Amino acid sequence: MGTADGQSVNAATGQAGSTKMIKPFYYVNADPERLREVITNIFDNAVKYTESGSVTLGLTGNNEVVQISVRDTGPGIPAEDIPHLFQKFYRVDSSSTRTIGGTGLGLFICRKIVELYDGRIWVESELGKGSTFYVNLPRLTSEKAKQLQAIEAASGNTLAPLSSAGAP
Ligand SMILES: Nc1ncnc2c1ncn2[C@@H]1O[C@H](COP(=O)(O)OP(=O)(O)OP(=O)(O)O)[C@@H](O)[C@H]1O
Ligand SMILES: [Mg+2]
Repeated sequence: MGTADGQSVNAATGQAGSTKMIKPFYYVNADPERLREVITNIFDNAVKYTESGSVTLGLTGNNEVVQISVRDTGPGIPAEDIPHLFQKFYRVDSSSTRTIGGTGLGLFICRKIVELYDGRIWVESELGKGSTFYVNLPRLTSEKAKQLQAIEAASGNTLAPLSSAGAP
């Protein structure tokens, strides 16, 4: 799938499916639905654990990688929990997790999907300040992406570009 730096601006026009694309395009070899699941899980966490402040989505890259980030101004995650965070059923024992429901599966699923595409997922966090979750995926050249799109199209499975919300 392809992604572009920039913001999805459906809200600006109020029209479903209206998006603004800003180049450069970033292509990665991943199922858009699975990638959407990863971003949704991380974004949902950011929103549910952040009582006040903001959640910011970012998209950037270089020749090798495409990087998605989700930054929040929530409670942060204790350093001792970070190594376990992406394990099955792991939840930080805190007042927010005691009051906010969850199974501890979201980040485990994210890691499994990201690893399926040879990517990496991690978090940087400071207690009381917030957390930033990063997803790095190998970047495809546009030539390689076009080849794969042609193969996918031939098999009836299109590899459509996906606009992605990004921090300015
Ligand atoms: N943005 C965040 N800020 C603070 N803590 C977080 C954040 N994201 C995740 N966590 C902590 O990591 C734990 C694991 O997250 P994960 O998404 O795997 O599970 P969950 O949100 O508890 O449940 P589920 O996603 O299965 O509904 C959470 O329980 C929470 O303690
Ligand atoms: Mg979750």
